[in-house]
Formats: sequence, C-alpha cells, structure tokens
Amino acid sequence: MPLSIIILAAGQGTRMKSSRPKVLHSLAGKAMLQHVIDNSRSLQPDQIVVVIGHQADQVRDFLHGQSVDLVEQTQQLGTGHAVEQCLDVLIPGNDVLVLYGDVPLISAASLSKLMVNGTDNAINILSFEAIDPTGYGRIVRSADNRVTAIVEQKDANNEQKKITESNSGIMFISGGQIKSLIARLDNDNAQGEFYLTDVVQHAVAAGLNVSATVCDDSREVLGVNNQKQLAQLEQINRHRNADRLMLAGAKLYDPLRIDVRGSLEVGADVEIDVNCIFIGEVILGDNVQIGANCVIENSTIGNDSKILPMTSIDSAHVGNKVSIGPFARIRPGTECADEVKIGNFVETKKAQIGQGSKISHLSYIGDTEMGRNVNIGAGTITCNYDGVNKFKTVIEDDVFVGSDSQLVAPVTLGRGTTIGAGSTITRDTPADQLTLSRSKQTSIKNWPRPIKKQKD
Ligand code: UD1
Ligand code: CA
Repeated sequence: MPLSIIILAAGQGTRMKSSRPKVLHSLAGKAMLQHVIDNSRSLQPDQIVVVIGHQADQVRDFLHGQSVDLVEQTQQLGTGHAVEQCLDVLIPGNDVLVLYGDVPLISAASLSKLMVNGTDNAINILSFEAIDPTGYGRIVRSADNRVTAIVEQKDANNEQKKITESNSGIMFISGGQIKSLIARLDNDNAQGEFYLTDVVQHAVAAGLNVSATVCDDSREVLGVNNQKQLAQLEQINRHRNADRLMLAGAKLYDPLRIDVRGSLEVGADVEIDVNCIFIGEVILGDNVQIGANCVIENSTIGNDSKILPMTSIDSAHVGNKVSIGPFARIRPGTECADEVKIGNFVETKKAQIGQGSKISHLSYIGDTEMGRNVNIGAGTITCNYDGVNKFKTVIEDDVFVGSDSQLVAPVTLGRGTTIGAGSTITRDTPADQLTLSRSKQTSIKNWPRPIKKQKD
C-alpha cells in the first residue's frame, strides 16, 4: 500500500536548555530530525509530513528545499492532536507511519519489519522490552496475547505499571482507518492531552486487529530529552558503526575510539588506528591504513594507500599506493594519482598531482597541475594569490624543484626543468634546463659582527 510518513517534531525540548530546537541538535554531525527523514526516505513513501510547533520558524528554515510537507501545530495538545493536524494534507487512503523527530536511531530495517507485520492489521505498534519502563506507555494484552490498549504511565494502575512491554511511540496505522480512529480521540485522561495511543482501544472496540512488533534492539527507540541522553545516543551510534566496520572486515585498533559522522565504506584488510574521524561520504579501498588522529571528510582513498597520523583530508581523491602525512593537510580539490608521496607539513588545495610525484616536506601547493615523477623540494610554495585573484601553476613531468623555492603563478615549469634551491620563479621555464634566480654568493673578508650597544 502507498505510504505517508508523519514525523512529530512540535515538542518544546525544554530540558535541552538550548536556544536551538531539540530536533535540530546534531547526532553524528547531522540533525536528529534529518536522521529520521533520511531513514524515512529509504521506505520510499509518497509523502513525508513534519509536524512543527515550538520554534517552528527555525525548523521550517532548516527543512527549506527538502521535499517534505509542513504542518504547524500551534498548541501542543498531545500526540493524537498532532496527527489530527495532518489529516488534511495526508494523501487519502495512504497507510500512515508515525515517527518522532527526537528518536533518531530507528533503523530502516525495523521500520520495514513494522510495516510488513502491519499489513493485516488496522494498527501495528513498534514496542520494546524496557528494563525500566517508567514513563513509557505500556502495551496491554489480553489473555490470548492480543493487544487491547496502550496505557500511559500517568493513567496506569499498579498491575499495568508492572508491564515491561513498552510503547516506542512509533506506530503504523492503516489508511482506511486513520480518519475515523483519530476522530474518536478525547482528552479525558491524567494529562488532559489527546493521546495518539488511544487509537488502539478504539480500534479494538470497533473489532479491528491491532498488533505490536517488538523491536529487536531497544536502543533504536531511545528518545532524546537532554544533552546526557544525546551523548548516550552518540555512543550507541559509534558502537553500531564500529561493529558494522569490523563485521565488514576492518581492523579497528580501538572500536571505542572511532567516530563516523556520515557513511564510511571499507574494502578488504583496512586498518584504522585510534581517534580517527570520518565525515560525510568516505570510501577506503582495499588494504588502506589510516594512522592515529586523522580526520577524513568526503574523500576516496585508493587501494594500498597509507595515511599517516595527524593528517586531515577534505574533499580529495587519493589514488592507489599513495602515502600522505604525518601532519599533512589535504584540502578540497586535491587529486593524487597513484604512487604519490606527500610528507609532513604539506598543504595542498585544488591540486592535481601526477603519478609518482613527491612533495615530501613543508610545502604549499595550490591551484596546481602537476605531472608525473615530479620532485618538490622542502619549503616550496606556489604563490597562487596576488591578494585579489588566484592563478594557476603548471609543473610538467619530471620537474625537480630545489628546496625553498617560490613559484609565482601564473607560471609553467617545462618538462624536465630543474629549479635551483632558493629560487623565485616568475616566468615560464624551458624544458630540460636548470633555471635559478639567486643573487651571486659573495664573501667579505674580516667582516666584523655587530657588537651589542652599551646602555647609558
Ligand atoms: C509518548 C507516548 C508513550 C510512549 C512515549 C515514547 C503518547 C500519548 N504517549 O509519550 O506511549 O511510550 O511517547 O517515548 O503518545 N509531540 C508533538 N505534539 C504534541 C505532543 C508531542 O509534536 O502535541 C511530539 C513531541 O515533540 C515528541 C513526541 O511527539 O517528539 C512524543 O511526545 P512526548 O510528549 O514526549 O510523549 P510522551 O509523553 O513521552
Ligand atoms: Ca517523550
């Protein structure tokens, strides 16, 4: 059946003690609400409706440009009231899945399972076994184990409070029933709210089937109310990522000390040392080694390449058998061909570096097109910026640049050029010749060193 997804995100989130709306706080570098939206998309719904309320403007701004329908719930009169506000925008007849913007770790797999199990029922609830169910709605079952109601903590009697099967809040409601079930809600309860959970008892009274699917991993349905819980979810997410990587064959020197803020794909025999952070989409080929304390963002690293400790790589493409670092900074637009070597204290930006070329120490290479087998001496700088505009440096194959040289762009070093150490190159250089720009070395005999002046 075609599906609509509702994400409840109108709540206040007072306990975050923050000026930012709760659902916009980030988990693994991405807003909680965005996690829920991204997971929702994998179910390919016809529509995603987000219910906003507190700090609606900020949430609306955040969602700008994403294809979601927004519904504003100006007064938060309860979860049932929130869903009621959506009835007009829901595609008629679509099944509905209700999610929470502050429950970000729910997996697409659990949601799919909920939907599959829900097909023959008017309602299917995602429940979980709570070690301490205090605060959660309890799933009430009949003697023959059928779900008959959800009772909120504040409305539960002592017997019901002993039930450990709890309501995650996530619920599937069949498209044919949602309108009439929501219409029957009232706020005659301990909190004076319109409880979405009351649809269960109304469905049962109408002779409809209600089921509950127990979530395999109760950590997925944890909600966030304060920074402490958010940190716990970060930890759970880190563990999940580490487990996934190890099961994919990666060796993690310490699975507790890796942070994946996005998606990390690994080939065979990848090794990752401690304290590395992977941001956005990162792909590591076979046999890649990442040293300690590296930060790698939106980049691809080819097979058999080694990234040595303390290296930062952002939006770069690194070929096979490349060695980078320690202490290198590879900035956006860097493309290293195979067998390139980049050593310590080297910064690159918008630089194509040809096969087998080496930049071993202390250099800045920006806006540069470099051929194969080039050797860049220590302390070489491409002077790409005149204070207003950027210019390009072209370094052809087999060039050797002596240490401490400045290449003032725009400039081209012809194939096989040798640059003498300490040169400032301002004009194109001819192929296969030595080019240098130095004042002649002179020596002055009997030159007296300056003497410190006596103070009066
Ligand atoms: C709800 C469930 C409870 C379940 C628990 C799981 C109801 C009546 N109870 O309780 O059975 O165990 O979640 O965490 O549904 N929201 C709105 N508009 C509103 C009210 C809430 O958008 O008017 C949003 C909140 O922002 C939040 C979510 O709905 O994301 C849940 O609301 P909350 O008040 O936290 O519900 P609970 O009392 O925890
Ligand atoms: Ca809650």
